[in-house]
Amino acid sequence: MSQNTEPREQWASRLGFILAAMGSAVGLGNIWRFSYVTGENGGAAFLIIYLLCILLIGIPIIMAEFTIGRKAQSDTVGAFTKLAPGTPWVLAGILGVASAFIILSFYGVVAGWTMRYFLGYLTGQLWSAPEGGYADFFVGFISSPVQPILWQFIFMALTIGIVFVGVKNGIEKTNKILMPLLAIILIILAGYSLTLGGAAEGLAFLFTPDWSAFAEPGVYLAALGQAFFSLSLGMGALITYGSYLSSKEKLPGAAGSVAVLDTLFAIIAGIMIFPAVFAFGIDPASGAGLAFITLPDIFAQMGLGGFFGLLFFFLLAAAALSSAVSLLEVAVAYFIRKFDWTRKKASIIVGFIIFLVGVPSSLGIGPLSNITIVGGRDILDSMDFIASNIFLPLGGLIIALFVGWGWKKTEVLEASDFGSSGLGQVWLFILRFVAPIAILIIFISSIRQW
Ligand code: TRP
Repeated sequence: MSQNTEPREQWASRLGFILAAMGSAVGLGNIWRFSYVTGENGGAAFLIIYLLCILLIGIPIIMAEFTIGRKAQSDTVGAFTKLAPGTPWVLAGILGVASAFIILSFYGVVAGWTMRYFLGYLTGQLWSAPEGGYADFFVGFISSPVQPILWQFIFMALTIGIVFVGVKNGIEKTNKILMPLLAIILIILAGYSLTLGGAAEGLAFLFTPDWSAFAEPGVYLAALGQAFFSLSLGMGALITYGSYLSSKEKLPGAAGSVAVLDTLFAIIAGIMIFPAVFAFGIDPASGAGLAFITLPDIFAQMGLGGFFGLLFFFLLAAAALSSAVSLLEVAVAYFIRKFDWTRKKASIIVGFIIFLVGVPSSLGIGPLSNITIVGGRDILDSMDFIASNIFLPLGGLIIALFVGWGWKKTEVLEASDFGSSGLGQVWLFILRFVAPIAILIIFISSIRQW
C-alpha cells in the first residue's frame, strides 16, 4: 500500500522557475566562499580561470541538467533510471544525493554564522568593534562548542520548514522578493567600499593577474570547484528543479540568465570585499573568515552602518536559505520517490540527519580542531573540498558524458529546446569533448593536492 498520494509538483510559472534556480545559485558561495577562495588563490588569475570554467563548462552543464530534469520529470537518481534504465549513468545521481548531504551539512554551519551576525546587528552588539576586534569575535564565536551548533540548528529548521511546505508556495515565493533586494544592497556596499582607501589595491588584486598563478594546478581545481559550487552544479539540484518544469518553457535562456546573474553577484561581492580587505590591512588569503571579518569593518565605518549590517546579514541569511532549500530538495525528492514517503516526513527526517552530519564540521573548528582530513584541512574545509572539488566536478563530468554520448542526438537537441540550431551543435561538442577533457586534465594535474 502506498502512503504517499501527493502528485508531483510543478512551478507556477516560468519566472518562478528561473528565480528559484537563481535563488539556488546565489548564496554563501557568491560572498563567503567566492571571496575567501579568490583571496587564497591569488585573485585575478583565479578569477579569469573561474570565468572560463563558467563559460566553457558551467553553462553547458546547467543546460544538460535542465534538459535531463525536464525530460525525466524525476529526482536526480530517478532521472537517470528513467532515461537510461540499467546503465551506470545513475552513478551521477547517487553522487548527487551524497553531495547534498555533505554540502548542506557544512553549509548549514556557515549559514548559522550569518544568522548569529544578524542577531548581533539587531541588538546593536556588532555595530562597533567588540573587544579585540571583529576577527577575535568571529574566531571566538565559531570555535565555541555549543553556540554555532544552535544557530546551525535554527537555520536547518527554517530550511526544513520551506521544503516541508513545498516547491511552489515555499521556494518560489520567498525568492521573488529577496533576491532583488540583496542585489541592491550589494551594489550600495560595493560603492561604499570603494571609498575606503583600499580601492586601488583591491581592484588590482581582483582584476590584474599575477601570471605565475597560472602555473599552479591547485588554482585550476579551486576555480573549477568554485564554479560548480556557485552555480549549484554537478549534483542534480538543477535536474531536480528542472523536473518541476512543464515542457512548454525554453531552457537555454534560463540557463544563461542564471549563470550571468550568479557571476555578477560574485564579482560585485568581490568589489565589495577586496577594497575593504586592503583598506583594513587584512591578508586576502586569511581564509574562511574573510567576509565575516571585513564586512563588519566596513559597516563600522559607514554612516548608518548598524542598519546596513542588519539588512545585509538578513539578506545573506535569506540567500543562504534559498540555496540550502535546493540542496535539501535534492535529497528529499529522492526519498519521496524511492521510499514513498510524504514530503513532510522526508523533509523532517532527511533535514535532521543532515543537521547531525554537520555537527562535526562545527566542532572541528573549536573542540575538535586537532582533527584534519584532507591535506591539513579541518573537518568543515575537508567536507567542502571533497564535495565541491571532487564530487561536483565528477558528477558534472558524468552528466556531460551522458547527455553528449549516452543519449540519442536528435532527442537531446529536441529535449533541450536547441533544436537544429548551430548553438545546439556547439553545446553538444562542449559536452562531448571540451568539458570532459578540461575536467579530467584539472583533476589529474592537481591530484597531488588531495
Ligand atoms: N550555489 C549555492 C551558493 O552559491 C550553494 C548551493 C545550492 C549548491 N545548491 C547547490 C552548491 C548544489 C552545489 C550544488 O551558495
